[in-house]
Amino acid sequence: VREDAERRDVQRRSRERFGLTAERYAASGMTARFGQVTSLLALLAPSAGDAVLDVACGPGSLLAALAPRVRLAAGVDLTPEMLRLARAQALPAGSRPLRLVRGEAEALPFRDGAFSIVTTTSAIHHYANPGAVVAEMARVCRRGGRVGIADLVGPADEEKRALQNEIERLRDPSHVEVLSEAGLEALLSQAGLEIEGRAAGALSRELGEWCAIARTPPEVVRRVRAMLLATQPGDRAGLAPEAAGEEVRFRHQWVNLVARKP
Ligand SMILES: C[S@@+](CC[C@H](N)C(=O)[O-])C[C@H]1O[C@@H](n2cnc3c(N)ncnc32)[C@H](O)[C@@H]1O
Repeated sequence: VREDAERRDVQRRSRERFGLTAERYAASGMTARFGQVTSLLALLAPSAGDAVLDVACGPGSLLAALAPRVRLAAGVDLTPEMLRLARAQALPAGSRPLRLVRGEAEALPFRDGAFSIVTTTSAIHHYANPGAVVAEMARVCRRGGRVGIADLVGPADEEKRALQNEIERLRDPSHVEVLSEAGLEALLSQAGLEIEGRAAGALSRELGEWCAIARTPPEVVRRVRAMLLATQPGDRAGLAPEAAGEEVRFRHQWVNLVARKP
């Protein structure tokens, strides 16, 4: 019961945040900037026979790239404003059928084995129970099909990662938790999937822009700035912040993993 209440609470925060910021988020082109679209496409190498589901599809950046290459592309997301953008962005990209459904990642409204590729990008850190979501993704993936996850990752050091998560949650209360790379891998293996591809990288971010995407109130931005800068010396959150005049730059690490359902 407590888990249900917590999940609903986390989902409500995500719906509120992304309802208010869908357009800014889409305009920021984040998924593409993390290299997630090109790198996931290369790792997945989708073909014309594939049926793809993108979980928490947001404004449809990955679907726009996938839809023209596959037999069927579907997206599910909690936030109606995001689905509206996905409809506009991803539909003209492909003449193939595109199914966009409002729903929860934790209870995907599809039958077992309905898809040959199931993805989720930049969303694991918004799930109350990412293990339950990856298990759902594995359920709707057919045997021999693939699950692709792409997300921010935090340092392997738990104290550093906890501090990163504190800073991330202050900037965006719908943030739940970035995992370490090993933590992301464990989600896949615990769902019975076999990892067969990976890509990783880092992206330089600017604090002002990062907070503007989430509409962080100005007084909170000041606290985020102070907290981030206070992690130096010693880089205690693994975000490597540096002040350059008014700007503060820092570094986000990301990982993409592709795993097969045996
Ligand atoms: C940071 S955006 C990522 C969107 C897209 N995947 C991308 O890479 O651009 C996170 C998305 O996750 C959705 N979301 C968060 N929690 C969800 C859940 N439990 N079920 C379905 N969608 C969820 C939000 O509505 C939002 O669209």
